[in-house]
Amino acid sequence: MLVEMPLSTDELRARLANQRWTAQNIVLNEEVSTIPERPEFLAQSPHVKAVLRTVTSFFGKDLRGVRMADLGCLEGGYSLAFARLGADVVGIEARKENIEKCRLLEAHFAMPNLRFEQADVKELTRDRFGEFDVVLALGILYHLDSPVSWLRQVGQVTRALLLVEGHFAPETDAALAQLKPELQKLGPLDTVVEQSVEYPGRWFAEYETNAERDAMPWASYSNPRSFWLTRPSLLRAIAAAGFDLVYEQYDHWINRYETVSSQAPRSLFIGGKSQALKRRPR
Ligand SMILES: C[S@@+](CC[C@H](N)C(=O)[O-])C[C@H]1O[C@@H](n2cnc3c(N)ncnc32)[C@H](O)[C@@H]1O
Repeated sequence: MLVEMPLSTDELRARLANQRWTAQNIVLNEEVSTIPERPEFLAQSPHVKAVLRTVTSFFGKDLRGVRMADLGCLEGGYSLAFARLGADVVGIEARKENIEKCRLLEAHFAMPNLRFEQADVKELTRDRFGEFDVVLALGILYHLDSPVSWLRQVGQVTRALLLVEGHFAPETDAALAQLKPELQKLGPLDTVVEQSVEYPGRWFAEYETNAERDAMPWASYSNPRSFWLTRPSLLRAIAAAGFDLVYEQYDHWINRYETVSSQAPRSLFIGGKSQALKRRPR
């Protein structure tokens, strides 16, 4: 694939001086990277490696012809990782501050198969964005207020594989009391009902004002509180969204399993449509 590098070191430095990169250290050229003091995101992040492992296990390492969405893409690193394997990737991100960082990658790497759109992930419909073979919903579901219906919406545009990474709510108050302090503000166990099915979870207050929201580049965008599903409800919601293959992946933090599970429970949930996956050429 033709990869141009149109931005000079001086241009990159000038643009980076106006941006606040918070998570992903992306190497832009031999002299410039986005957060030089951090490990290189694409080459070293265990999360990136885990997500790549799953997608390439199903689709092979040549992803040309595979259409992907990266929802709540933050600084664009996951999108770039998959575009480099040939996938046709659309990163969707609501925050102006974040999409500007994604657009720096878009301009600099100038790959025809990598683009970013500023939009609310709640607007993900077939009419607006088309269908995708693979959808990445990493770190986004627990920032939404209607996660079950949103998963169903995502299921309607996902042809084969959905990856959902993120927190889930503790099922008991004893488990809630074990969480790290900033997560103990989760509300009492509550239930949302979707299509006559009950999905237990807990509300999480993210912010109260837009000023607070705008100071938090990783937070929810269009809802001040989010509903965290419990693990069983999350698994059920993925199945209800049309995925007959449902499982969890742990290889990226297997060595921290006990700590993560008790203090900040999260997982990488995989939903697959097995018939569509069988038809994919490797
Ligand atoms: C916790 S970060 C996760 C980033 C990245 N996907 C990852 O896993 O590292 C959540 C991201 O979703 C974005 N976001 C939150 N709510 C959104 C919404 N309703 N529509 C689009 N993006 C949203 C945030 O701006 C942020 O970039």
